Amino acid sequence: LAPNRTYHEKVISHYENPRNVGSLPKGDTDVGTGLVGAPACGDVMKLQIRVDPNGVISDVKFKTFGCGSAIASSSYMTERVKGLTLDEAGKIKNTEIAKELSLPPVKLHCSMLAEDAIRSAIRDYRSKRQNLSNTKKAGF
Ligand code: FES
Ligand code: FES
Repeated sequence: LAPNRTYHEKVISHYENPRNVGSLPKGDTDVGTGLVGAPACGDVMKLQIRVDPNGVISDVKFKTFGCGSAIASSSYMTERVKGLTLDEAGKIKNTEIAKELSLPPVKLHCSMLAEDAIRSAIRDYRSKRQNLSNTKKAGF
């Protein structure tokens, strides 16, 4: 076993070549935006999902102002959730990311940021849909 090697390959690959960096139009009714911060270090992560009519995540983008592990965690998360339902995506734990990227204990909160970010994006999407259907019911 060569855990350090795994750490380097996976973290560095996601860090040097992060997947799905960018933004989706925040105002789109099928887009959910999660914006979270890590109190421990002040790093910030924005993660956005686009959800198709079947409730499946069809597109994901992120921007992370933070350390390499936070960038790698968000990059990993975007790849992981594409094609999942909202319920499936909401169950992904930071411990899975930390394990997958072999993050050391001091970097656990960086992966927590990615878990918080996807949940926050899902919440935003759901409250948007809720508001839309309330508006419709009210006859506006
Ligand atoms: Fe935030 Fe590491 S303390 S970048
Ligand atoms: Fe704070 Fe990584 S997110 S050190």
